[in-house]
Amino acid sequence: MKQGQFITVEGGDGSGKSTNLSFVKQLLEKSNINIIITREPGGTVVAEKIRKLLLDKNEETISEQAELLLIFAARAQHIHHVIKPALAQGKWVLCDRFTDSTYAYQGGGRGMDGKLIELLEHKVQSGLTPDLTLLLDIPVMIGMNRVKKRADLDRFESEKKLFFEKVRSAYLTRAENNPQQIKVIDASQSLKKVQKDIVQILSVLTDRI
Ligand code: TYD
Repeated sequence: MKQGQFITVEGGDGSGKSTNLSFVKQLLEKSNINIIITREPGGTVVAEKIRKLLLDKNEETISEQAELLLIFAARAQHIHHVIKPALAQGKWVLCDRFTDSTYAYQGGGRGMDGKLIELLEHKVQSGLTPDLTLLLDIPVMIGMNRVKKRADLDRFESEKKLFFEKVRSAYLTRAENNPQQIKVIDASQSLKKVQKDIVQILSVLTDRI
């Protein structure tokens, strides 16, 4: 049975997700919350192998359907072996990306059928959804310019601007339709201001902060 809180952090590439994820972790730990940090795709030995398949530029192209099914295969492992057991023990789970990424990247970016994603979501997650999602929103060009400075771009980072525009717009539509769960943060602001917003949002979830 679920007891802990399930928090996810989402955002386009270059939105400052990693930095802010550590910030959220520290913030919750300061409040004596027992928290585990994990990521998608990945989070278990097998799911990390699937992640590698998804991110590497393979000698063979990965079809959209294969990509979607691999993402949900990794998610099934992750939920079964990590997320559900942790929540049942009363731990909080902080996850770098979850199914909102699938709606944004595969649904928005790739234009895949949202109904198919929904079907897989229901089958694989059986009702498990985040209690809170922090969506770090950033104009595409700013995000892309930040990412370009990194050495090797992975399979997703190598997509074109239009792809990321669709990702962003799918994220924002999801946030509009799920305002209770998804809180949009303007990630083009200074880091200080972004983190101030995070503190404010989290304080609603726990009066211990
Ligand atoms: P991540 O490690 O968060 O990359 P970054 O920190 O560079 O943003 O995520 C890896 C990539 O996987 C990211 O580009 C988005 C993609 N992804 C999907 O396309 N669908 C999904 O459901 C998930 C979880 C990730």
